[in-house]
Amino acid sequence: MAKNAVITGWGYYAPSRVMTNADLEKIVDTSDEWITSRTGIKERRIAAEGETTSSLAARAARAALDKARLRAQDLQLVIVGTASPDYLFPATACLVQSEIGATKAGAFDVEAACTSFISALAIARGMIVSGAIDNALVIGAETLSRLLNWKDRTTCVLFGDGAGAAIVEATNASVGIESTVLHGDGSKGELLMVPAGGSKLPASADTVERGMHFISMAGGEVFKLAVKSMADAAEEAIADAGLTLDDIDLMIPHQANIRIIDGVAKRLRFPSEKVFVNIQRYGNTSAASIPIAICEAEATGRLRQGDKVLLVAFGGGFTWGASVLEWYGAHDGIRPPSPLERAGRVLEDVVERVRPS
Ligand code: ACO
Repeated sequence: MAKNAVITGWGYYAPSRVMTNADLEKIVDTSDEWITSRTGIKERRIAAEGETTSSLAARAARAALDKARLRAQDLQLVIVGTASPDYLFPATACLVQSEIGATKAGAFDVEAACTSFISALAIARGMIVSGAIDNALVIGAETLSRLLNWKDRTTCVLFGDGAGAAIVEATNASVGIESTVLHGDGSKGELLMVPAGGSKLPASADTVERGMHFISMAGGEVFKLAVKSMADAAEEAIADAGLTLDDIDLMIPHQANIRIIDGVAKRLRFPSEKVFVNIQRYGNTSAASIPIAICEAEATGRLRQGDKVLLVAFGGGFTWGASVLEWYGAHDGIRPPSPLERAGRVLEDVVERVRPS
């Protein structure tokens, strides 16, 4: 039985069409100043006609497989976290499984809104550590632009499209995902929802007329709950990993709103320099935001081998959760750095920070 589950590959895909705040000013009564100051968002990506959640997910998946040097046919499980699936069924994971040729893999979706990626990661980790499987492809992917009412300025400025993927593999090394915590509170579900199109209110001319198949949100309520819940989950995941906040090298929070992210860091008294933020370029991509951020953090040198990383999210449902992991890096056989090397790197960082510019 494997001791740990570790991320050995990662990849993302963002549609090429960029929609800026200036573009939105032409569609709804809003301004770059309002959107930037209230959310931190400057632009977001919008899927092209013909692109779907599964096609975005498949592109991210292929990049992650390449990085892990794993063949699709050797995958044992594909999980897609999404709130904007191609269909109610078949599952988007099945479409991805077929598209990439993961012929031996099981496939299913996880729907926990913005917490979907952490939820899927928790399942993959549990199945790997229990010995049920040796590897899994975990994806967060969304085309939320298809669920937005482009006449509603309170929601359409917030969201964007994209996909991020991670390969999770069994390892006997002392590295990898150290904790996962998940929570939910269905009693607050109506504060952030797509009211129609499911079995309770099937799509009808009336629901379409009333725009009930679009995202509806009580932003202020979501805001308050998000900050507290994410901070609580972060503390719980860190304690479960046997660590303290000081041990965390990088926090990668769900990119919902810069004020939520800042609020979480402030509540935890966590230094903002150690928080990864890319919301300005993508908006809120829900399930995709954390895996996209992982890719960009790694590519820009913010995420390095041996780093202790905190992932934390909050979303519709309500759902919230967090995970702590030790970053291993690509599946290139390199062992994680020794404690001495890590201490040396911390020292380098301190010297860099105090060096007069
Ligand atoms: N442009 C200009 N004005 C706007 C816009 C807009 N796009 N949207 C709302 N306004 C107006 C409102 O109509 C209101 O006007 P009024 O005072 O005349 O009635 C005014 O701006 C203030 O509106 P508020 O809703 O109070 O604005 P607030 O500062 O709360 O910001 C926001 C709204 C950004 C939605 C905020 O509540 C928020 O970030 N909530 C968190 C929700 C979130 O991020 N959800 C994402 C999904 S959940 C998740 O991923 C965590």
